[in-house]
Amino acid sequence: MTRICTFIYSNGSPMKNYLALVIYSILFYSCGPRERVSKEVFDEVNKTMEVKRVTDAEITQEAMIWGDSITAQAQKNLISNLQKAIEEGGLVHAIGFCSENATELTNALDPSEGVIIRRVSIKNRNPMNSPDENEALILDAYVYNSEQGLESEANIQKIENGEVLLYTKAIIFPSGICQNCHGNPESEVPSEVVEAIQGLYPEDKALGFKAGDLRGMWSVKIPKKSIVNRL
Ligand code: HEC
Repeated sequence: MTRICTFIYSNGSPMKNYLALVIYSILFYSCGPRERVSKEVFDEVNKTMEVKRVTDAEITQEAMIWGDSITAQAQKNLISNLQKAIEEGGLVHAIGFCSENATELTNALDPSEGVIIRRVSIKNRNPMNSPDENEALILDAYVYNSEQGLESEANIQKIENGEVLLYTKAIIFPSGICQNCHGNPESEVPSEVVEAIQGLYPEDKALGFKAGDLRGMWSVKIPKKSIVNRL
């Protein structure tokens, strides 16, 4: 618009110049509000692009809070879904309900936040639940703590060049419902359950757990930008 204004003003005879002046005045007034609109747009863009000033400590703290709440919810859903499945169809029927996909939590998380939740274990039933390189470092520390009789704290680790935060939390084997499928195969797990599990998971390493044992750990991978968005 500015270029058109300049072009008309500097073009031709006095008469044309006079005409150009009139046109220019009209354009000037129509240019005016445009400029104001542009400034509003400019301010808006500036506002959305504004860099949030958050510290590393705030990010870590928020990741811890979020990870704690995600895993607490997942654990709660898992147990209540398992209980419901056992009541409805017995233990063999309930075998498919000890998985994150059955917690309904994975659906509850907003996919745009890019959070990945799973449980990993060295003594796993499903080999897909083996830890990856990043998870293994922390799980090894949890195993060490457990062997030494020390408690393991929830942990936040930066991975993928700091773009993702890995929240981890030890899963300590409780007594009760879990023993039906992960306890002593001679005295606690009914033989039809042992059989069904062996059929589905020929490499099963997840029998023989006692209350207080380290069963594995929760792993929640949270993109840093999703954490910043919450602050
Ligand atoms: C009805 C049988 C059943 C019950 C009860 C059960 N689980 Fe499982 N659990 C399984 C099966 C089957 C898998 C493998 C799931 C998969 O394919 O990812 C599994 C997997 C797991 C895993 C993932 C690591 C691995 O071994 O693959 C953890 C951790 C776990 N169970 C802990 C528990 C805890 C804690 C409880 C009690 C709240 C419990 N389970 C109750 C059958 C059961």
